[in-house]
Amino acid sequence: MEHSRLLELLGEMSLEEKINQLFQGNSMFYEEDGIATGPASQQGFTEKTIRETGTVLGIIGAAKVKKIQKEHMENHPHHIPLVFMADIINGCRTVFPIPLAQGAAFNPELAKTGAEVAAREASASGIQVTFSPMADLVRDARWGRVMESTGEDTYLNSRYAEALVRGYQGDDPKQPGKIGACVKHFAGYGAPTAGRDYNNAELSERTLRDDYLPAYAAAVKAGALMAMTSFNTLNRIPSSANRWLLRQVLREEMGFDGALISDWAAIEEIMNHGMAADRREAAKLALEAGTDIDMMTTCYSNHLKELIESGELSEALLDTSVLRVLELKNRLGLFENPYKDADEEAEKRLILCQEHREKAKNAAKETFVLLENNGILPLKREEKTAFIGPYVEEKSMLGAWSIFADPEDTVTIREGVTSYGANALFASGCSVLDPQTSIMGMSELYKNAKTQTDLDELLGEAVDTALRADKVVLCIGEHVAQSGEAASRGDITIPECQKKLLREVARVNKNLVAVLFNGRPLDIREIKSLAKAILVVWMPGTEGGNAITEVLYGKTSPSGKLPMSFPCCVGQVPVFYNEFKTGRPNDAQSKNRFLSRYLDIPNEPLYPFGYGLSYTGFTISPVRLDGNTLTQEGTLTASVTVKNTGKRRGAETVQLYIRDDAGSVVRPVRELRGFQKLWLEPEEEREIRFEITAELLKFHDIHMKYQAEPGSFTVFIGNDSRTQNQAAFTLL
Ligand code: BGC
Repeated sequence: MEHSRLLELLGEMSLEEKINQLFQGNSMFYEEDGIATGPASQQGFTEKTIRETGTVLGIIGAAKVKKIQKEHMENHPHHIPLVFMADIINGCRTVFPIPLAQGAAFNPELAKTGAEVAAREASASGIQVTFSPMADLVRDARWGRVMESTGEDTYLNSRYAEALVRGYQGDDPKQPGKIGACVKHFAGYGAPTAGRDYNNAELSERTLRDDYLPAYAAAVKAGALMAMTSFNTLNRIPSSANRWLLRQVLREEMGFDGALISDWAAIEEIMNHGMAADRREAAKLALEAGTDIDMMTTCYSNHLKELIESGELSEALLDTSVLRVLELKNRLGLFENPYKDADEEAEKRLILCQEHREKAKNAAKETFVLLENNGILPLKREEKTAFIGPYVEEKSMLGAWSIFADPEDTVTIREGVTSYGANALFASGCSVLDPQTSIMGMSELYKNAKTQTDLDELLGEAVDTALRADKVVLCIGEHVAQSGEAASRGDITIPECQKKLLREVARVNKNLVAVLFNGRPLDIREIKSLAKAILVVWMPGTEGGNAITEVLYGKTSPSGKLPMSFPCCVGQVPVFYNEFKTGRPNDAQSKNRFLSRYLDIPNEPLYPFGYGLSYTGFTISPVRLDGNTLTQEGTLTASVTVKNTGKRRGAETVQLYIRDDAGSVVRPVRELRGFQKLWLEPEEEREIRFEITAELLKFHDIHMKYQAEPGSFTVFIGNDSRTQNQAAFTLL
């Protein structure tokens, strides 16, 4: 539709019709057959609000969406279509590994492929916008939502955020099989105090700008149609009411011109935060701040009219937000094609098709991180291997947000190993959760009915099985509902019954491999002390069992690298590689008491950012620089030669870190500024280059000016964030 026609449409709409465009409905509004119904009115929504709703959340299914849309448009005074939105995070029905795992692949293209598959399945089922990517920087493993992020690094997150947007939207979200992206949660949601979900975030403006904002900005630059505010207060102001953050930073500085939605009930929560006295004031603050759409409350629908009629808010402010919603619909092509790609036949054909499963499997294989291996891996098909643990037959390994997927479609480890034809024994050993415990997931209660007696029996069987095998693969980890939204944890270890299983099995069979399922970095000191190999498989998705089998048996070498440090224990958290130098740096050898360190634990994480092994070995040559000075407009090339020195094909992720040796403000000890993942055959070697420009050296200086300061820099190139392979240059 021509933009001028959108303006005309806006002009034709009544005040209430406009306000209702900013209201987001959900499935409770519609009966099975797609008719707007009564229950919603019991929640304070009028029939009129429902009839004129602008967007809806969480309704999926081609037939259903078409029916609701048809009816809605017929009843709407101006026949304006709805936008169907949902959380399609790491897949729709074919589920890819969780985002944190995707970060471990150090391969944004792979995430793009995942987003393309998700968009294809979701759009056939009627979804037009997804609430993804989550570009929140995460440093605190206690926070359950670290699983939805790609990790602790600004540069890595930025590359993923833009790749995901491109995957969902393609060149034009109107195109068949594409959906709109919504970058979230703006801003600083990944920094909740003490790792407790929904808690406040206090970030200096410099930290916010240098570390937290770039990934959101990358998604905006890549063209994300929407953005979502965050639940948290940022420096004491709830994001949905933060005019500076939303108007100046997001819109003016980042250039975001799409529709901005609140997070679930976040407008009403301005009141809970104590910044608004009531819903009316919350609505006023949110609209003034620039929040366009009210997700899941009646603040806008019940109060904006009065606020405008009394002159407390201008109608022009409302019009700006309504126009953005109309523009969103137009960018998705909904005025011409309100059903977009919703199609029952395509839905049947695409969902869980072989091609999608294959892509999910390949993605999963690249996300696994090998933390330890004394040579016990890869396994051999003929050696007798006991697969023991609650994850051997577990199907819930899709991650907390896979709300539209059916765990029944998941390939378990037992199924994967069996179809591979390996010489294997199986025993569950215990349940994922401790006996008689339950945990609430995103939408269902996971109840563990097993008693201690049941578990004793399972443990006995597991020990017998371990005794009969050459090697044991222990499949253990967190429950799927122990990470995700509202899943903060103070103890980041595996459940007690699994610890017992680990100890008992390790007692009778020392050839122990641990396969670890997790939605966050865990404290795995005990696992490390007992296992000869550790493979982190996160929440691997629909094809988990096949992918794990192929990696364990060496069909593919593991190639993941940690996107987030694994702390030695929770006492270190938040622990991340790009920290600042203190005035009293630690020196392990020193007897000086007055150093920045703990008395009882090391400063360093158990496994650092960027770390991960392979079945083969690599060497990386010393860093070569093609000069020792760089100008503000120039380019310096840093190169290394990487060689596969082992006997198998494998991948190394070569990482470029830069340290600004001295700045007008204290600078991080180093920062990731490039990475390249390359697969090499045995004996193969390749030169790889990184182009260094002043752009990569910029930060907010003492005057909050974003610039690269002349001076000396150190370049590190290696295979994890501890590398000491370095060279120096000066920026003129
Ligand atoms: C989450 C968002 C999500 C929204 C809609 C909220 O609880 O914080 O990430 O997109 O719900 O489901």
